[in-house]
Amino acid sequence: MNKPFEGLGPSPLNHLKDQFLLDPEIAYFNHGAYGACPRPVFEAYQRYQHELEREPATLLYREFTKRMEEARGGLSLFLNCESDQIAFVRNVTYGLNMVTQSLIINEGDKVLATEHEYGAVDRMWETVCEERGADFVRIKMPLPLESNSSAVELLKANIDPSVKIITFPHIAPETAQLFPIKELTKIARDAGAVSVIDGAHAPGQIKVNLKEIGADFYVGNCHKWMLSPKGAGFVYASRKYENRIRPPAISWGNISEGTSSLLLENDWQGTTDISSILAVQDAINFLNKNKWFETVVPRSNQLIKEFNEITLSITGMDDLYLHTDFQPPQMRSYLLPEGDHSSLHTELFHRFKVDVPVFLHPKGSMFRISVQAYNNESDLERLAKALKEMLR
Ligand SMILES: Cc1ncc(COP(=O)(O)O)c(C=O)c1O
Repeated sequence: MNKPFEGLGPSPLNHLKDQFLLDPEIAYFNHGAYGACPRPVFEAYQRYQHELEREPATLLYREFTKRMEEARGGLSLFLNCESDQIAFVRNVTYGLNMVTQSLIINEGDKVLATEHEYGAVDRMWETVCEERGADFVRIKMPLPLESNSSAVELLKANIDPSVKIITFPHIAPETAQLFPIKELTKIARDAGAVSVIDGAHAPGQIKVNLKEIGADFYVGNCHKWMLSPKGAGFVYASRKYENRIRPPAISWGNISEGTSSLLLENDWQGTTDISSILAVQDAINFLNKNKWFETVVPRSNQLIKEFNEITLSITGMDDLYLHTDFQPPQMRSYLLPEGDHSSLHTELFHRFKVDVPVFLHPKGSMFRISVQAYNNESDLERLAKALKEMLR
């Protein structure tokens, strides 16, 4: 094949590839699903684990409050909120369950969502609404979306007095659409409904400013785009709701000095290993040291743009984006031609050493690429070649 990336120049980020523990044989485009932790951050994580085993009561009891406050302080600066407005949880799924199970949802209430929820999260809302006799309504959103205002109008059109909660992902999981969450959150506020945002893919990929977003609840992961070790997510609660929330597993809770139930109930979960939480600051330091938002994110975006036309010409399908507003900088999803693609993910991995998630979506089969610091032109060339052969 001809060289699609000529003219793009050598990647200034190639040195970062060595910093990751990923198998160098694999072209890994699956960051969105599982993240990847760089070496210095992973080493810090292991140091915390050693520290814990050397004198467990120091880390998990005597120094606990101070260390957790430091960890919350660092993350809150990164997300622009107050440090007592976030609680660490092990992941977004857990955090959203904590929010959902704490909220008052009565018979006849409506929870408004989109068709773009993550599978496990969709199942969670469905289960809770069924238990409480509430309606879980998923708004159909056409793909591609025409404009931010069309997404806003669609949500507005579905609001009625029974809508008590409005929930949406910041970046949709399968279709990789970046939603105008500030506007959507405002609609929830104006309607007097609680806004719950699933931010699994946003922090570290885009600059998340929780003060500006103004959500009631924003639940995010540090172990995806922020590059922390697995097991570090967070729940942000607005002042209005910070006392309404408690974890699914009731533990000791009140070792912390905070005053809200968000902290009092959540911070001290007994013997839970907090090493991944402590390593969040190391992940933030790594992002800052490498000027992530100035170098890695735009470069990844540029690679995606270069690859876009090639992919669309290989699949022969329409673009899932009419507007750049909906494009997250480091993720992109593509429709696959009609047919059975159930073995595509496995074949791409085993035959071509390319790791790409493939989904069966109501709109059709699709795959999603995540482009990160460790990806380069040759990874994308390998993917294009593999797709060409598989879709021939
Ligand atoms: C939008 C969205 N929400 C939630 C999750 C769940 O994340 P976790 O498994 O870390 O809880 C994912 C995972 O990919 C996701 O894409």
